[in-house]
Amino acid sequence: EDFLATVAEKSHGAALRGDYEHADAQYVVQQNWAEYSEAEHDLWRRLYQRQMALLPGRACDEFIDALHKMDAAAGIPEFEKTSAELFATTGWKIVAVPGLIPELTFFEHLANRRFPVTVWLRKPEEFNYIVEPDVFHDFFGHVPMLFNPVFADYMQRYGQGGLKAMKLGGLDQLARLYWYTVEFGLINTPQGMRIYGAGILSSGGEVEYCLTPGTTSRHIHLQIERCLNTLYKIDTYQETYFVIQNFQELFDGTAPDFAPYYERLKSAEPFPANALLPQETELLP
Ligand code: PHE
Repeated sequence: EDFLATVAEKSHGAALRGDYEHADAQYVVQQNWAEYSEAEHDLWRRLYQRQMALLPGRACDEFIDALHKMDAAAGIPEFEKTSAELFATTGWKIVAVPGLIPELTFFEHLANRRFPVTVWLRKPEEFNYIVEPDVFHDFFGHVPMLFNPVFADYMQRYGQGGLKAMKLGGLDQLARLYWYTVEFGLINTPQGMRIYGAGILSSGGEVEYCLTPGTTSRHIHLQIERCLNTLYKIDTYQETYFVIQNFQELFDGTAPDFAPYYERLKSAEPFPANALLPQETELLP
């Protein structure tokens, strides 16, 4: 499969580890929940407990409230159970996938309110750091936010926007928006700065780091075209966090047609991951 080689090469030069043999045309597989080992359930519980100890006062309320309703503390969850609750709440479903999937397929899932979740769990030695998304990152990090109606709509629109960006040559730009919102987004609430990005929420170290004042990382208000033009780091903590005030702002800010942005940015030099522009203020000094 062409894309597997490409992704593997791009990410870390090794083969992807999932079982792609049994996937259907949309890369969907069975979760085969009964086949997880006791050791895997135990590793999940340790990951879960570590994150839960870090999240109060740091993760946004929307995330924590949904997570408590999801019944994910006892071990690797059965996707079908959560998927039914999710569907009843926001009309989203969870589908099981072997791992990373092609961009087109990923966008098609999102555009149809299906969130692809990797079935396999990391190895114990990857407790602190993992290169590819696993079931803990995908399920623990991403699924809770899909219970929020505005965020859920944003994710669908993102999928539709992805299909459009493929035609307009805007994929690199649109991927940056996903990275800086869905994966590493912060939200400045009346109670203080909070996390909603899945890449932070499922990380052992970045939960504290991203909210610590005085680091070398930026915390700046999300401006869409600026974000589309900003490079990101995949192997260190982020050097920039883009901050929103509420989820409606995210939804409304991304509603305009991105075609003119892509057109302009084609000939623009992207900003480095640690850029701070003259008109920007650090929100966590
Ligand atoms: N409005 C964007 C476009 O025209 C689509 C989009 C919506 C992208 C929401 C991201 C998030 O391409």
